[in-house]
Amino acid sequence: MNRSYDEIKGRLAEHGQEHVLRFWAQLNESQRQALLDQLADLDFEALARMRTLLKSGHEPVASGAFRPAPVVRLEGAERQQAHEAGEALLRAGEAGCILVAGGQGTRLGFDGPKGCFPIGPISGATLFQIHARKILALEKQYGAPVPFYIMTSLENDGATRAFFERHNCFGLDPQRVLFFSQGLWPAMTDDGRMVLERPDRVFMSPDGHGGLIRALDERGMLDDMARRGLSVLFYFQVDNPLVDIADPAFLGLHRQRQAEMSVKVCAKSGPEEKVGVVVTRDGRDAVVEYSELTREQMYATGPDGELLFRYGSVAIHAFSRDFLARATRIPMPMHMARKKTPYCDESGDTVKPDAPNAIKFEKFIFDLLPEAERTVNLEFAREDEFSPVKNATGDDSPVTTRRDMMRKAARRLAACGASIPRSKDGDPLCKLEMDPLFDCRPESLRALLGPEMTIEKDTLLQDKPS
Ligand code: UD1
Repeated sequence: MNRSYDEIKGRLAEHGQEHVLRFWAQLNESQRQALLDQLADLDFEALARMRTLLKSGHEPVASGAFRPAPVVRLEGAERQQAHEAGEALLRAGEAGCILVAGGQGTRLGFDGPKGCFPIGPISGATLFQIHARKILALEKQYGAPVPFYIMTSLENDGATRAFFERHNCFGLDPQRVLFFSQGLWPAMTDDGRMVLERPDRVFMSPDGHGGLIRALDERGMLDDMARRGLSVLFYFQVDNPLVDIADPAFLGLHRQRQAEMSVKVCAKSGPEEKVGVVVTRDGRDAVVEYSELTREQMYATGPDGELLFRYGSVAIHAFSRDFLARATRIPMPMHMARKKTPYCDESGDTVKPDAPNAIKFEKFIFDLLPEAERTVNLEFAREDEFSPVKNATGDDSPVTTRRDMMRKAARRLAACGASIPRSKDGDPLCKLEMDPLFDCRPESLRALLGPEMTIEKDTLLQDKPS
């Protein structure tokens, strides 16, 4: 114990962090051990990078001129071929899914993992349930396993696992639902010192969705993917119930182009929408965050009168497994954000500040894009695939997401010949919800709704009990 204390103290001193031991004399044995355990796990190499970054005062943002990246719009025979190529991957059991759910979801103000948020307009189905049942639907359709990798963080790992267990993994085989926790990083004050949250604990928070790569590696998930014979992984975020998980056309295009990393993009809702845009710089595709675009770039238009940088990335990707493995050797940039960080005052009490007081560091997954040898960007229709729950009210809130889920269900039902009374602006007059396992075909609808196929009251379309 003493040796490890001395050893850790020495390392802390090398990195200018001895202050985190300032309450040592007042800690009891178990508190001392807890603090030592936490400090022994610190990534000192990352710590050194953080301090260098703080000294320089700015992120090492890639510079140089860029232009809009090429974007593929799949239509007709081309779409069909890509779709078939993706279906072949699914049928061969070569496709898996990665869900990043380690974030804290502070903006939504929901207590618990964001995936437990009830979003189904009628059923109250949670985000996790919807995602899991989409994967179950794929497994049924293609008669092959689609392993589901879920990244959590220390704060929500236990609650996430317990939620899936309580719901029997929503019908998925628990052997194919794999949870793994992402890394944690400390926050720092401007002078490069970590923040002590309690006398026996340094403040730590998730290292960003870019922490995925390290977590996949350290938690044995890359080996697991190899063992299961996966060659392609579909990546998505927890907050978007519209996402078309493992979209065969996207996976197929990714494979046809031999891409290492692919991006689904959609037209921005306006010049100032807060999404990163896909660009080409030095012959490589990259995502440039909205905060890095000048106003001029944001509003610039092309010869067709449309926004020049009009395609936004909404964090839907495909990765080849080989690239994920190679990415473990690629150093990822660190991004800084000033955040409210609980700290402990001189008497050892924890203070929750009202204003940002420390800098948090994060890695972003899209920083891997320029590292990929081959990439492809595929356009998708926003109304069909993207409506995230981010805020408690206003844009990207439960109200807008449920509205978009119902609009999508109405479009699918209408395409099968159902008639749905609508308001002047085209919204269905009753609530609609479609379970991902519902077999949405004219025949099944007719059997369910009668020959008229009219839907006049709130309707939840579920799969037939098997
Ligand atoms: C993100 C993207 C933005 C994109 C938008 C689409 C960034 C910086 N911005 O914004 O370009 O258009 O989503 O919805 O990424 N997560 C982790 N671990 C972490 C942090 C986040 O797993 O350490 C997960 C979250 O659980 C969530 C996702 O990553 O599933 C996105 O995180 P969030 O902080 O909500 O991203 P946004 O700022 O909304």
